[in-house]
Amino acid sequence: MAEKGMIIAIDGPAGSGKSTVAALLARRYNYINIETGAMYRALAWKALETGVPLDDEAALADLAGKSRIELQAHPNGNRVLLDGNDVTERIRRQDVTEAASKVSVHPKVRAWMVQNQRELGAAGGIVMEGRDIGTHVFPQADIKIFLDADPEVRGARRFLQNPTTHLKETAAADLRERDHRDRTRANSPLVPAPDAVIIDSTHMTLDQVMDNIVEVIEARRNAAQK
Ligand code: DC
Repeated sequence: MAEKGMIIAIDGPAGSGKSTVAALLARRYNYINIETGAMYRALAWKALETGVPLDDEAALADLAGKSRIELQAHPNGNRVLLDGNDVTERIRRQDVTEAASKVSVHPKVRAWMVQNQRELGAAGGIVMEGRDIGTHVFPQADIKIFLDADPEVRGARRFLQNPTTHLKETAAADLRERDHRDRTRANSPLVPAPDAVIIDSTHMTLDQVMDNIVEVIEARRNAAQK
């Protein structure tokens, strides 16, 4: 009998490397990679486009309810479709990054996102990456990884990803502000699940991080087969 696909939850702050790691894990295990941050970004982009205020929880929840957000697997990474339109590049803009952080504090917006994320991941065989996957979306996930790194290192990584639109100092300052909002919001703040494996990648290469995670996954698979 084929092994049932696992649910692998990868949480952590911006710039911790979780998107890269999630994409590599999905490729390695032939799983679907679900970037939940892209879903918050897509809604934030729509709010900016349609003039819905970022502090109006009811209007944002209503907007979410009328939206269709899809993640399509492509060889060069997921494409993000909002109401059938490809918004993959647009949602990486700095104003959208800021707006996503603001819309994600609202409990009603989060409830809509979580419900959709649970449906997307229900069948297993997924790597889901975000801030609250191990604590809230899939508390029963087979594997929970919390990736972290010092803020300076994360800021530098973000700057290298997008050097044209960001001054290095701005990247670090933006990141600190978003971190603070993510970690202190009342609803599903960014915290490691009690049973998550915490990996601090400050002084690690990507290969070392991957080796660590694959070891955790293989140990779990072996235990499940016994
Ligand atoms: O991972 P990212 O930078 O694309 O996420 C964009 C914003 O969405 C970020 O400010 C935090 C928020 N987010 C969240 O609150 N919960 C998630 N599961 C994923 C992202």
